[in-house]
Amino acid sequence: MGEANRNLIVVTGAGGFIGGSYVAALRARGCTAIRAVDCKPFDEWYQHFDEVENLSLDLNLKENCEVAARGAHDIYNLAANMGGMGFIEHNKALCMLSVLINTHMLQAALKHGAKRFFYSSSACVYNADKQKTFVAPSLKEEDAYPAMAEDGYGWEKLFSERMCRHFREDYGLLTRVARFHNVYGPWGTWYGGREKAPAAICRKVIEAKLKGTREIAIWGSGKQTRSFMYIDDCVKGIDLIMNSDILEPINLGSSEAVSINQLVDMAEEIAGIKLQRKYDLSAPKGVDGRNSDNTMIQRLLHWEPNTPLRVGLDKTYHWIHDQYLARERGDSRVVRESLTTSH
Ligand code: NAD
Ligand code: GDD
Repeated sequence: MGEANRNLIVVTGAGGFIGGSYVAALRARGCTAIRAVDCKPFDEWYQHFDEVENLSLDLNLKENCEVAARGAHDIYNLAANMGGMGFIEHNKALCMLSVLINTHMLQAALKHGAKRFFYSSSACVYNADKQKTFVAPSLKEEDAYPAMAEDGYGWEKLFSERMCRHFREDYGLLTRVARFHNVYGPWGTWYGGREKAPAAICRKVIEAKLKGTREIAIWGSGKQTRSFMYIDDCVKGIDLIMNSDILEPINLGSSEAVSINQLVDMAEEIAGIKLQRKYDLSAPKGVDGRNSDNTMIQRLLHWEPNTPLRVGLDKTYHWIHDQYLARERGDSRVVRESLTTSH
């Protein structure tokens, strides 16, 4: 077994939304011993910090996971092939292949003597039968069983959750598992097919406003309900859960449920326009309703994600607006400048 450096923190998926935001938060609090890993080339990372060790590695491969885990004290495994409903419904095999990342990272963590391992699971592990109503059912941690997870993506998450548990029970690796509910905010994917509803709706409202089309396409009837967690709450929750004694998977999500129509209302209000809604009933819809039951996190951490959706969406809308204009100008420099200010 290798020796863990007392300080070294490894973040996988660091070129993506939550991983990049987690590295930014570590940097902001003065951590310097950080290794950031992602398979994307560096110029495609959403946030990139020169002061940390950055590695571009495909973590499907065991040997790369060993490079990533060497000397680590804490590992935050945020790498996965994922996206919103538009991606996961059409890429079930790709989503399930993330099992390679999680399996190899757990093995590498053990081999190199890492002390703690964080795994990012999802509300998609919950039993589909409990999410068949538009009246946002609040999902408790126990509602993952009997298992009937989201096809593809959700089953991989459930399987990897269990593998974390067995690495803890059988080998003593301190694993921590959070089930994220739909996360949004600046630096999240906002176009290209992997974007989730909050970013997609902001982008569509911005586009309609700028182009003067006065219409918006909404997937499904708009009656579907979800809760959306602002990225700052997600980062705080990861930190609290990783450093807690919570052994079992726990919800990390907002309990402010809204319908997709209400989400569109908010984006329109921020933009100061009203659009004609076109409902596409053949588009990917996922479950009818889903909310986070936060009884457990309140009891164990005396906290829950609490950024009001209206507040977080305002920040997200304006960030996407800036990105949209920069993209239209073909000017990636704006993106780089915002990167610098986020250091
Ligand atoms: P993201 O797509 O922005 O980031 C994931 C990153 O993982 C990407 O940058 C991607 O390049 C990287 N990655 C994929 N395959 C890889 C590989 N083989 N090797 C190395 N890197 C690889 O997604 P995110 O929103 O930041 O999600 C982070 C984690 O949180 C994922 O495990 C995801 O399943 C989970 N999660 C996210 C949400 C959400 O709403 N964003 C909800 C539930 C769970
Ligand atoms: N993506 C997207 N784009 N969704 C839209 C759109 C649109 O333009 N218009 C309406 N929707 C609807 C979808 O049909 C779905 O009913 C709802 O908005 C939410 O869609 P997503 O945000 O894409 O995904 P989700 O909430 O069903 O699942 C997401 O959250 C999980 C965790 O809670 C996914 O990102 C999962 O990967 C994630 O694990």
